[in-house]
Amino acid sequence: MLILWFELMSEYYSHCVPTCSSNKTAESALVTQRLSPDVVGGTYPFGGIMSDGLIPAIMSRRARRAITGQPIARDILETILTAAHLAPSCANSQPWRFVVVDEEPALTQVKEYLSGGNYWAKLSPVIVAVVSRADLDCQIPDGREYHLFGCGLASMNLMLQATEMGLIAHPIAGFKQAPIKTLLDIPDDFTLITLIILGNPADTDQLLSEKHRLEEVSERSRVPISNVVAWNRFTFSEPPP
Ligand SMILES: Cc1cc2nc3c(=O)[nH]c(=O)nc-3n(C[C@H](O)[C@H](O)[C@H](O)COP(=O)(O)O)c2cc1C
Repeated sequence: MLILWFELMSEYYSHCVPTCSSNKTAESALVTQRLSPDVVGGTYPFGGIMSDGLIPAIMSRRARRAITGQPIARDILETILTAAHLAPSCANSQPWRFVVVDEEPALTQVKEYLSGGNYWAKLSPVIVAVVSRADLDCQIPDGREYHLFGCGLASMNLMLQATEMGLIAHPIAGFKQAPIKTLLDIPDDFTLITLIILGNPADTDQLLSEKHRLEEVSERSRVPISNVVAWNRFTFSEPPP
């Protein structure tokens, strides 16, 4: 838990995103698999055919940061929010609540509580706050609570639809939750899970830090798929937490 907190803070609360030491350690311990765009259309080491189904669209979504402040029309926002709302949820609970911030002064006020590493998001014309509460979704007595899962599914729908419509949609955890909740009148018992930063892609990355500039054009980084897929039984050797 502590390690996770440290990694999150060092990644998102500073400008060290791609190269901070915790990331380097993780990368040297695991062979990082680079997913380059030219994989699309060919086969992937795992065996799947990369031109099939949604994979090309999924691969075109990246957590990019070079955005413009150009406003995004409400009908576009309504389309991507509808995509989010079409996500599946346990017993059709629909636990997601989206507070869409696209007007002043709320937009500028929310941006005051972004972490330093998320300076790039200050240009965004629309920020979607994804909020929920545990009782809005299935709570199975053996400890399974589904509201965060449901919001994750909805957020992914939102991001994929935004990407298909030519927008950047970048989720962030680097923000101060309490003051943003107060600003947006989000009740205490709701969790502000993520802010999804929306924007049109910028043709220049000059406003980004050097590290973020490199990330804009980097190939996608994932651990080998064998680290995350097991067949028929759990064969992973995860170190204890
Ligand atoms: C829950 C969550 C929180 C994130 N928080 C931040 C953040 O605060 N700042 C940031 O720049 N990126 C953030 N990201 C983006 C990730 O760093 C990014 O998705 C990851 O590096 C993989 O890159 P890709 O999305 O381009 O494949 C976050 C992503 C998720 C899903």
